Amino acid sequence: MNTPASAPPRPGPPLWLLAELTYRCPLHCVFCYNPIDFAEQTQELSTEDWLRVLREGRELGAVQCGLSGGEPLLRDDLEVIVAEARRLGYYTNLLTSGVGFTAERAQALKAAGLDHVQLSFQDSTREMNDFLSHAKTFELKRRVAQIIKSQGWPMVMNVVLHRYNIDHIDRIIALADELGAEYIELANTQYYSWAFVNRQQLLPTRQQLQRAEAVTNEWREKLASRMRLFFVAPDYHDGKPKKCVNGWGSTFLTVTPDGTALPCHTAKMLPGLAFPNVREHSVRDIWFDSEGFNRYRGTGWMKQPCASCDQREQDLGGCRCQAYLIANDPAAADPVCPKSPHHALVQEAVAQAERGGDAVIEHPLVFRDPAQSRRLAREA
Ligand code: FES
Repeated sequence: MNTPASAPPRPGPPLWLLAELTYRCPLHCVFCYNPIDFAEQTQELSTEDWLRVLREGRELGAVQCGLSGGEPLLRDDLEVIVAEARRLGYYTNLLTSGVGFTAERAQALKAAGLDHVQLSFQDSTREMNDFLSHAKTFELKRRVAQIIKSQGWPMVMNVVLHRYNIDHIDRIIALADELGAEYIELANTQYYSWAFVNRQQLLPTRQQLQRAEAVTNEWREKLASRMRLFFVAPDYHDGKPKKCVNGWGSTFLTVTPDGTALPCHTAKMLPGLAFPNVREHSVRDIWFDSEGFNRYRGTGWMKQPCASCDQREQDLGGCRCQAYLIANDPAAADPVCPKSPHHALVQEAVAQAERGGDAVIEHPLVFRDPAQSRRLAREA
């Protein structure tokens, strides 16, 4: 392990272990956060490897285990992995599109000890839901919601918001209420990976966002204790850098399907950084001593304007992946910040969204798909 010369502060344990079990997925979402070149990353850890990762993570102090993908239900050993996570004392949650979530599978996962399910919808209408994922899943998702409720699991409904569905927010929340969700996560699109490819088409207008937030607040009052509503802020429009992943290497440890360990699920694209693999290193060594986890920990890595900013401890310079995608420098200030020298690039993207129409017509959406993935990887 390469430890940098001026070592950053030693962190506490990772609290969240996110196991991305596979990049395989039957959906083709235009905002998918899986890597653009996912089609070239076909290796997956074995069941034994995953069980060891879970054990090592728990020994280190992780308490929450998310099981995601791709579609995690495509792994036949999901129940085995859940059972071991539960035995080790994790709180487990499954992040699923619902495809493959049959009544039988639900029973087996319940018996294995799964605590919680997050079900994604793309929209409240069949037409838009099925269009955005390029798969007929709307009715299936409704059935899966019933299965989740029948097993007594708390349910989070997750909807990624953007220009195409944000005006349906009223019906989206009503759908969550009808299906009995305890939580709804209304997540404004974060522009990485496939969402970055489609950014021009997905960015909403300010007016759309203001209305969506107002509608969400009305529902918050109406639903009171019945459902909790989370509205994930749109940082492009707000001009407020977020403390991404709660601080690099402070809380989250993601393991990708091939075993690469990352501080956030898109960090692998960052240049000049080596991320270790759980096949070769222990989770403890990875967390405390790897270059990849140490590089952007704390504030010591910052340059101006972050280094002297009075907000640096609050936002930790924002998102490293966003800095790379927009400013071509992962150590730059997040360009959503008005103090960033690259902020005009964000303002221009937002202004283009305000101007509307043409961009959407001129640039068709790129759906997540193996052929597109290989094409984009070749062109990168
Ligand atoms: Fe990678 Fe923000 S998504 S640091």
